Amino acid sequence: ASGAHVPVLVIGTGYGGAVAALRLAQAGVDVHMVEMGMAWDTPGSDGKIFCNTREPDYRSYWLRTRTKAPLNYFLGFPIDRDIPRHTGILDAEEFGGITVYQGRGVGGGSLVNGGMAVTPRRENFGAVLPSVNADEMYGVYYPRANAELGVGTVDPAWFDSTACYQYARVGRKHAQRSGFPFVFVPDVYDWDYMEQEAAGTVPKSALAGEILYGNNHGKKSLQQTYLARARATGRVAVSPLHRVTSVSPAGGRYAVAIEQLDTGGGVTATKTVTADRVFFAAGSVGTSKLLVKLKATGALPGLNDEVGRGWGDNGNVMCGRANHMWDATGKLQSSIPCCGIDNWAAGGAFAEVAPLPTGIETYASFYLSITNNPNRARFSWNAATGRVDLDWQASWKQPSITMAKTIFDKINAKEGTIYRTDLFGVYKIWGDHLTYHPLGGAVLNRATDNYGRLTAYPGLYVIDGALIPGNTTVNPFVTVTALAERNIERIIAADL
Ligand code: FDA
Repeated sequence: ASGAHVPVLVIGTGYGGAVAALRLAQAGVDVHMVEMGMAWDTPGSDGKIFCNTREPDYRSYWLRTRTKAPLNYFLGFPIDRDIPRHTGILDAEEFGGITVYQGRGVGGGSLVNGGMAVTPRRENFGAVLPSVNADEMYGVYYPRANAELGVGTVDPAWFDSTACYQYARVGRKHAQRSGFPFVFVPDVYDWDYMEQEAAGTVPKSALAGEILYGNNHGKKSLQQTYLARARATGRVAVSPLHRVTSVSPAGGRYAVAIEQLDTGGGVTATKTVTADRVFFAAGSVGTSKLLVKLKATGALPGLNDEVGRGWGDNGNVMCGRANHMWDATGKLQSSIPCCGIDNWAAGGAFAEVAPLPTGIETYASFYLSITNNPNRARFSWNAATGRVDLDWQASWKQPSITMAKTIFDKINAKEGTIYRTDLFGVYKIWGDHLTYHPLGGAVLNRATDNYGRLTAYPGLYVIDGALIPGNTTVNPFVTVTALAERNIERIIAADL
């Protein structure tokens, strides 16, 4: 309620926010989490909480009247469709040079993502977070994050026999024939459940094409892990459909301005609460936008000049390859990827073998590559529009394409195949207009101290992907989680 006071307010309910809430509650602190998206705990009229990728409805997108599918063409035809404007689960947030996909709702990105739970190779960690002690991360915090998130790996024998990973076996064959290291990729999806889906004994999720707009079964999102344990402490309250718009000092505390939203995106109430401590966990984009706005508009003028800088796209780029008729990828494809091609050391690219769960045979191999793209963008306040801009340029994806080609040009040459040109437009090979992995904007040890403190304002912290300077060499959420575990342990020990 407006006027209330809370010891700790957490902005956002993704990985960083969920870690902070659980550990603070376990330390005996009452926590209030504020989340702009919906709760995602109530079935719609079809009995399901989440809609399917093949039938996107009002639940699919955050306040859009037309879908904006990451893979927006098929056989050269646009596949987007009209939908009612609703506080749906996936935000395709458009900046000048890039569309940034993010989860909206209690659980943040864990609601929409593929669950690929990858710990970076240790030899790459120094470039990911240079100011962080790698021994501590690999000895304590990565194992802690993996255990709490429920990370597991596909059973290799089942992988070799199941129809739903034929596409991944084709990906493996092609990778290995070209001499690339092929790796299984861990995931938070319940692998036993997926085997039961294949056996036909439980309702299908991964094998029904569910992903991007939520999984009704099988995936251990934060709702099932960190947030469930946080709520079980009895010390954590969550307010969905509430969006933080301001944080400012107020007599030794912080005043937090919040808008309550309806499911059409309209503001139904504005509230102000006070908090002793505020954790920014609104995601790389959400946290960066808030901090940049608050610094520029005078609410938090003492934030340093690193705020808004160091943003990267984790080098994301997508592409498809057209296989020969003898390399069918299967009409049943698990929507949960389980393997990848690791050419990071030689070519700067790690490519997950991704599904195209269309339900028909496509003869396509599809890949999301994470590349060592060096470009970094900056968020800045645009007083004329009252919005925060990002100066990423579309052409900045070229290094990613060059690095991805170190894998796929070689495979195409070896297999006598070509790139698909019908997945992202008319004669367009590269999905280079988007990222799933926004990182940075309030970089650790630059915008904050080495534990996420915004030192000009005691009691203000950043604890999400905004801390990570633009790239993790692999899918990011395990690193976001492990870094949050490290930082909150120090903050609880030293600051409370
Ligand atoms: P996260 O984005 O999770 O949470 C931030 C929360 O804050 C959101 O719920 C948001 O609604 C809320 N918020 C924002 N502004 C707010 C405000 N002003 N007030 C209140 N609330 C606010 N990663 C990976 O490792 N493996 C994978 O397989 C994938 N796959 C994948 C697929 C897709 C489609 C997407 C979009 C993303 C992925 N990712 C991924 C990326 C991964 O999901 C991402 O890195 C993490 O969710 C980031 O965690 P954070 O805690 O930083 O923010």
